[in-house]
Formats: sequence, C-alpha cells, structure tokens
Amino acid sequence: MIESWAVVEAADPAEGSMAAVIVDGTFVALGRLDGRLVAFDETCSHRACPLSEGVLADGSITCPCHKSRFDLQTGAPLNGPAVEPIRIRQVRQDGGNIFIER
Ligand code: FES
Repeated sequence: MIESWAVVEAADPAEGSMAAVIVDGTFVALGRLDGRLVAFDETCSHRACPLSEGVLADGSITCPCHKSRFDLQTGAPLNGPAVEPIRIRQVRQDGGNIFIER
C-alpha cells in the first residue's frame, strides 16, 4: 500500500507521450501507455539522459541516448548498456488530478 502521494501539476498525457514533472524536488517522467498512466525516474541509470525524451512501447521505456530499455513493471534494464534499474512509481488519476507515489 502506498503511504504517500504527491499531486503533480501536469496535463493528462496523450497515449505514447511523456513529460517530466517534479515530485518532492526530483524529476519524474509521467506518460501514458496502453491507456494507463506510468511514472518512473526521469534520469536514466546509465548516464543520466532524460527518459521522457525516449520511446514508450511494448511495456518499456527506451532511453534516447544509448537505447537502454527498462521494464515498466520492475524498472529492470531489459538491455544495456544500463545495468542498474530505474524506480517505477505508482500513479493514479482522481478527477482532474494526477497523483504520483512519493
Ligand atoms: S544514458 Fe540512457 S542508455 Fe545511456
């Protein structure tokens, strides 16, 4: 169970799109894939490229810089060069507000 949620100032993302939002001073990527909101580290675990500029598809996010691909359920790298996972955050929508796990 999620203990604490942050309300984010963000437009509802269109299918396949992403934007960087701030949760408690940390950049988090917020997007929508297969109709579902997703949220995860904005910063790639390899060399810190912005993941919101990558590609959402097939249950994963692909980094725009060196093409590491991360599983959106677990955050684990599906292919390198990244070896460290990214953090996946729970996200929910209630009325016009979007809430992301702190
Ligand atoms: S910075 Fe993301 S794969 Fe290199």
